[in-house]
Amino acid sequence: MEALFTSQSHPFFFPTTSTITTKPSYLTLISFSTPSTHLRTPTITIKPSNTRRGGRLRTSDVLKVSQTSETLVTSSSLPSKMKAWVYEEYGDEQVLKLVDEIDVPQVKDDQVLVKVFAAALNPVDFKRRLGKFKATDSPLPTVPGYDVTGVVVKVGSQVKGLKEGDEVYGDVNEKALENPKQFGSLAEYTAVEEKLLAVKPKNLNFTEAASLPLAIETAYEGLERAGFSAGKSILVLGGAGGVGSLVIQLAKQVFGASKVAATSSTGKLELLKSLGADLAIDYTKENFEDLPEKFDVVYDTVGQCEKAVKAVKEGGSVVVLTGAVTPPGFRFVVTSDGGALAKLNPYLESGKVKPVLDPNGPFPFSQLVQAFSYLETGRAIGKVVIFPIP
Ligand SMILES: NC(=O)c1ccc[n+]([C@@H]2O[C@H](COP(=O)([O-])OP(=O)(O)OC[C@H]3O[C@@H](n4cnc5c(N)ncnc54)[C@H](OP(=O)(O)O)[C@@H]3O)[C@@H](O)[C@H]2O)c1
Repeated sequence: MEALFTSQSHPFFFPTTSTITTKPSYLTLISFSTPSTHLRTPTITIKPSNTRRGGRLRTSDVLKVSQTSETLVTSSSLPSKMKAWVYEEYGDEQVLKLVDEIDVPQVKDDQVLVKVFAAALNPVDFKRRLGKFKATDSPLPTVPGYDVTGVVVKVGSQVKGLKEGDEVYGDVNEKALENPKQFGSLAEYTAVEEKLLAVKPKNLNFTEAASLPLAIETAYEGLERAGFSAGKSILVLGGAGGVGSLVIQLAKQVFGASKVAATSSTGKLELLKSLGADLAIDYTKENFEDLPEKFDVVYDTVGQCEKAVKAVKEGGSVVVLTGAVTPPGFRFVVTSDGGALAKLNPYLESGKVKPVLDPNGPFPFSQLVQAFSYLETGRAIGKVVIFPIP
């Protein structure tokens, strides 16, 4: 399995293993430069810290920046303003504006302030931006973004487990659709409850870690809610997407599935197999619901519940993430949980479960609009990540 996931042999998985270490003192990060959106090895430019925009970090600050597990050591002199993507009205991706001077969020007692190093996009980001969840949304203007990874630069008074300098990752919104944060992760800084974060897996760089939280938590919660367990079979609809690519891996590597089947279009069948699918079904050629074989669980990430219920064994479960629900299907909305990430960290650190990054990314912060346009085609492979963030 290991060999299938190298960038040399697999067209869809691009682990970035570069480590960039600055000299530890008198230097401040100025910018990451991204030669193209097909970035594999990010480069950084460093200059003496007193040239930084606004001179807000002191020369005594120590910044070590890497795509792996180096540490950012922080200062008490944080800036008061930051760059962020913002929308003031609901609409298509053109409502997104990059602003230079927005207030850095204040931390509440149970929160930490994270210097964002990478973020990932999820369909919920654009559905929210389109106004589909208006009734339960936080007020506009909105800084979008659920998934984050970065370094803790400040802790609230009630924070017990995290400290400045910790590298963390998580989904900043406990309930995806209920009052999600007005100031999300597509910014230089974001304030997050400690309980929604976990320490970043040591072997993953920031791009890889950013790709995981919401998707892996959804994959895991759905499998748990379905009562999935060792020896059971599963059919994953949409196996090449952000959630589906992780459902396949968790079902096999964490839950001990006896058989994993998954659907995709023709060009992604090899990816499904490399992720652990025993049976890869080309939905352009076969109707999964007409196959004689039935499954203990069908996990529908596409919105095909009416067909999905025809592929489940009597007494089995159909997990539904989107679209109309036909019994016995059930739909749930993910709850962000740092504890779940911490539980999954050993599987990530051992390499049994791997991030799947779309080969068109990562997209630099300045290209967020392009990144959304791409995600919104519905053809993304694994996750669309935004990196670097200034
Ligand atoms: N309820 C929740 O808590 C929750 C949580 C997370 C996500 N969601 C929802 O779940 C859905 C999936 O999310 P995601 O992040 O996985 O999306 P995504 O990454 O954008 O999914 C893209 C993938 O879907 C595949 N796909 C599209 N139509 C397909 C079909 N008919 N059959 C098989 N595969 C198909 C595409 O593969 P092909 O190009 O091969 O078609 C593509 O690789 C979204 O609607 C999202 O909003 C809900």
